[in-house]
Amino acid sequence: MKSLAALLSLAGSLASVSALAVDTGLIPAGASITPSRFEVLKQRAPKLKKCSKTDDWGNAVEGDRTKITIRASKDDNDDISEDFLWAIKEANNGGLLHLEKGKKYVIGKKLDLSFLNDVYVKIDGELKFTNDIEYWQSNNFYYDFQKSITFWVWGGKDIKIYGSGTLNGNGQAWWDGFSGAEILDPNNTYYRPILFLTDNATNIEVKGLHLKDSPCWTNFFVRSNNVVFDDVYISAVSTNVSSLPKNTDGFDSLNVAGLTVLNTRVNVGDDCFSPKPNTTDILVRNLWCNGTHGVSMGSIGQYPGVKDYISNAYLQNITLLNGQNGARLKAWAGPGVGYGYISNITYEDIHVENTDHPIVLDQCYFDIDAEQCAQYPSKVDITDVKFINVHGSSSGLEGRVVADLTCSPGATCSGIHLERIDITSPKGEPQIVCENIQGDIGVDCISKEEAGN
Ligand SMILES: *[C@@H]1O[C@H](CO)[C@@H](O)[C@H](O)[C@H]1NC(C)=O
Ligand SMILES: *[C@@H]1O[C@H](CO)[C@@H](O)[C@H](O)[C@H]1NC(C)=O
Ligand SMILES: *[C@@H]1O[C@H](CO)[C@@H](O)[C@H](O)[C@H]1NC(C)=O
Ligand SMILES: *[C@@H]1O[C@H](CO)[C@@H](O)[C@H](O)[C@H]1NC(C)=O
Ligand SMILES: *[C@@H]1O[C@H](CO)[C@@H](O)[C@H](O)[C@H]1NC(C)=O
Ligand SMILES: *[C@@H]1O[C@H](CO)[C@@H](O)[C@H](O)[C@H]1NC(C)=O
Ligand SMILES: *[C@@H]1O[C@H](CO)[C@@H](O)[C@H](O)[C@H]1NC(C)=O
Repeated sequence: MKSLAALLSLAGSLASVSALAVDTGLIPAGASITPSRFEVLKQRAPKLKKCSKTDDWGNAVEGDRTKITIRASKDDNDDISEDFLWAIKEANNGGLLHLEKGKKYVIGKKLDLSFLNDVYVKIDGELKFTNDIEYWQSNNFYYDFQKSITFWVWGGKDIKIYGSGTLNGNGQAWWDGFSGAEILDPNNTYYRPILFLTDNATNIEVKGLHLKDSPCWTNFFVRSNNVVFDDVYISAVSTNVSSLPKNTDGFDSLNVAGLTVLNTRVNVGDDCFSPKPNTTDILVRNLWCNGTHGVSMGSIGQYPGVKDYISNAYLQNITLLNGQNGARLKAWAGPGVGYGYISNITYEDIHVENTDHPIVLDQCYFDIDAEQCAQYPSKVDITDVKFINVHGSSSGLEGRVVADLTCSPGATCSGIHLERIDITSPKGEPQIVCENIQGDIGVDCISKEEAGN
């Protein structure tokens, strides 16, 4: 009893000051290292076994981790990226980096965080990127896929990023500068950074944060496994009526196995959730989207000769308000596109309100007119897709049409099943359009031509 008390009092004295930090003299000004309670106890009792409590991935829980803090920024130009990099290296392999509540941390240089292994990053404050467009357009990480750039790359294994704080992309200046341009225009060279990007990551969880005002896509996961988002809020709202927060997609992915999004709200100017080529094992539950381009599988099949696929997705309890699309499948057509498939996708319990296209199968992406699309049809097959219990209202933009399933003549669309569809249109009795779909889709449907009449 007595020795335990002595240990605890030692623990208290060690933990209360940044003892190690001061001693080494190697740490940046204003930073601190607080040993975990386990480290403290182990100094006196070297035979002490590792604490038995672990997280989902078998690693130490928050309270058993050495905690690192860094100084906050004085203003929006006070770049702390070097301190941040030092701290995440220090916290790597079992520690915790804490960005404290009420403080702002400004990142003004690109960061390679591809080396991570068992690290917690707790963000209760605000981590904000500078809007030095000139700097970021010549200093970034570049991905060929849709010419994507980012401020930083997160990679490695067992990474948790969580807390009540904000990642702020400071997007307004980027949206203003991009005004009038198009991201898919092959001549566009005004690239804008993605707010959060993983590459070669296995087990990465983001929880509780607000992801705010990304200059371009909010999240992009590249060749990663088991990405989990829970209780996240994503917003991109412009304060300038003449510049929209364009292409601020909630979620995009490329070559990802295991993508889970739970209990999340998205208020952005483009897709809410839209996995891209080679994404499998998708789970989305309790997602709310406002003013978005919908929850899409794709687009895929963009690049000539390249095979793309999306398979095994279950999306349940999704609310989509005031947007262009509800549940959508999108594949490219036209001269010089790719091929592949979208298969085994279930949309269940989907609520739409004031939505232009509540259910869409679009194989004439991007912006291909009917004639060109017929001449160069999509080569992406769409099989085993279910829409179950989709209800609410369309905006009436497409007249009475509330579901448009138009399969390209170059592709196979089979196993498409609709059940309990109850979507009203302000323009009258709702219509469901189906073209070139093999087999019974489970509900009455008419051709595009009939719908026009
Ligand atoms: C991917 O990350 C692992 C560690 O998690 C590393 O061993 C491997 O070299 C990385 N691969 C690439 C292509 O960077
Ligand atoms: C709003 O955006 C337009 C278009 O980019 C730009 O010309 C204008 O300067 C912006 N307004 C403000 C107040 O920044
Ligand atoms: C892109 O630029 C080329 C040459 O400058 C021009 O021929 C082409 O029409 C442009 N494409 C678009 C989509 O504006
Ligand atoms: C469905 O999702 C909404 C968020 O859009 C959430 O408020 C609600 O609790 C969810 N329903 C269930 C049964 O989990
Ligand atoms: C939904 O988005 C619209 C603009 O598209 C906005 O006016 C409205 O406030 C948003 N609703 C909520 C609940 O955020
Ligand atoms: C998707 O995976 C296939 C291999 O199955 C590969 O050939 C293709 O390049 C990948 N697509 C992309 C866009 O990376
Ligand atoms: C279809 O996808 C679900 C996940 O949504 C998965 O559980 C199931 O095994 C898949 N079915 C097949 C035949 O692969």
